[in-house]
Amino acid sequence: MKGATATARAHANIALSKYWGKSDTTYNLPAVPSISITLAPLVTETRVRFVDGLGEDRLELDGQAARPRELQRAVELLDRVRAESGMALRADIQSRNDFPTAAGLASSASGFCALAAAARAAAGLPFERPAISALARWSSASAARSAFGGYVELPAGAPGEAHLTAEPLFDPSHWELAIVVAVTAEGRKSVASTDGMGLTKRTSPYYNAWLAAAPGLNDEVRAGLASRDLQRLGRAMEQSTLAMHASAIAADPGLFYFQPATLEVWMAVRHLRDEHGISAFATADAGPHVKVLCRRSEAPEVERLLGEVPGVLRTLRALPGAGVHVVEGEEVT
Ligand code: PMV
Repeated sequence: MKGATATARAHANIALSKYWGKSDTTYNLPAVPSISITLAPLVTETRVRFVDGLGEDRLELDGQAARPRELQRAVELLDRVRAESGMALRADIQSRNDFPTAAGLASSASGFCALAAAARAAAGLPFERPAISALARWSSASAARSAFGGYVELPAGAPGEAHLTAEPLFDPSHWELAIVVAVTAEGRKSVASTDGMGLTKRTSPYYNAWLAAAPGLNDEVRAGLASRDLQRLGRAMEQSTLAMHASAIAADPGLFYFQPATLEVWMAVRHLRDEHGISAFATADAGPHVKVLCRRSEAPEVERLLGEVPGVLRTLRALPGAGVHVVEGEEVT
């Protein structure tokens, strides 16, 4: 059958201004806008094969059968593709990260974006980044941003806005920035971001303050990017990160994604700025690792110095990368 198999590749992304909190859980819409960098070379490659006679969808992640919650999220995405395309078959999905899952970068953004692109292509739907972005967003809002390359914005969604998509802001070549990841722990994060956002919304006295502050910080990040002003961008990014984490820490029970080593790295980044004159700025997501934004030319030095911080297990370096693409199969453009 035409287009029954397709493979897609999507890069991870890191938010410069953070999404935390949903305005609509049915459509999985973010309550605040966010801006990210799509990161090369960190990539997920996913193959979707719709198979005659298969009784149920199957999902393998890095060669291992997926856990029930992961499978369920993939099935929901496939159900949307089946509804749009009229294709009724069940799918066999194989997904691989070229970066270790324990690298400290969320694989859900690249994973759901690659799955959305491959599933649409395998079902014979046209290759349209906005459609891929909206489909990925239902599963993981940050995944909507990996549909595009370079610097990408996901606006906040109004309740019921089913087709909300991310939008490209600037190409990867806009600015030679780098992200150095300082990995501070092995294993998976303890509280999944959706659960953490729900707890923050229900119980944190600072959730509304976060909602009030986030759009202004997002505007600052966009302005810093547009004018290639690393101080302006970096300061807004750090404040967005800390405001997000402050709202989570004030939840009941308090939600700490930071570990002691996270703070060690955070302080080391300040030291890089104050003592070494290097424009480096820190951010962290729903996990203990620190991602450090700096100029590409200074990234080797940043990586070397962060590697010496107590508690840092290893570092890796990433650069602005391309949006999702279908590498094999029936790409209908
Ligand atoms: O899209 P999710 O459910 O993986 O949530 C991502 C949330 C953060 O990574 C903490 C922030 C962001 O904007 O990526």
